[in-house]
Amino acid sequence: SPRLRPLVAGNWKMHGLREALPEIAKTCAAAAGGGAGEAELVICPPATLIMAAAAICEGSPVAIGGQDCHSAPSGPFTGDISAEMLKDAGASYVILGHSERRSGHNEGDESVREKACAAFRAGLTAIVCVGETKAEREAGEALPTVGAQLTGSIPNSSASEGLVIAYEPVWAIGTGLTPTPHDIAEMHRFIRARINDHLPGQGDKIRILYGGSVKPDNAAELMAVDDVDGFLVGGGSLTFKDFMAIAGVY
Ligand code: G3P
Repeated sequence: SPRLRPLVAGNWKMHGLREALPEIAKTCAAAAGGGAGEAELVICPPATLIMAAAAICEGSPVAIGGQDCHSAPSGPFTGDISAEMLKDAGASYVILGHSERRSGHNEGDESVREKACAAFRAGLTAIVCVGETKAEREAGEALPTVGAQLTGSIPNSSASEGLVIAYEPVWAIGTGLTPTPHDIAEMHRFIRARINDHLPGQGDKIRILYGGSVKPDNAAELMAVDDVDGFLVGGGSLTFKDFMAIAGVY
């Protein structure tokens, strides 16, 4: 597996009032002090906090991201936020196709692909999520399921700088369960090979994150798995203490 600069991204989901902003400030200070080793850090707070979070992170090694975007630059889409708006608010990343969007908001691969194109158009790096359900894994369908999601969800012209993949098995999200290191390595190797088929030469440059119940006590074991280039962290990203303990394994 190639050596890529690891990325540790925190997905706050629908958590965080303004009173949570000091967690971001503390993360910036710790990262500036070398607390994340060689890893790059991104925090994706709820949209209401993006501008304030970006102001806090300005000049620090911590980047800010959104959790979703619309595919259009602007228009009559009540409640939606465009990639350009995220960029304008100070974000440089956006999570797309998270399983909670795919299942809770009926997002399909084609929609995720359009959003990824929008992210590139706006100059954001897209973190495109893929992952199988428990039933799909038990049926022995994990690899083909994720392979189809991946090729359906990434634009044909993705440049490695603009794209990150996050493998998040649905059954590992928020459950305390994780796949075995063997199963993660198998899936990440498979994803990298698929990217190389789909985007020749890019597979060795695109970071593939693992997500799903990454915690301070399993981060060291997970980071050592072949082809894992970082993490997408949910619950473990909400406090500065846990997030830095996770990033600190790098
Ligand atoms: O996007 C990250 C997420 O889905 C994983 O959540 O809480 O299991 O780390 P969690």
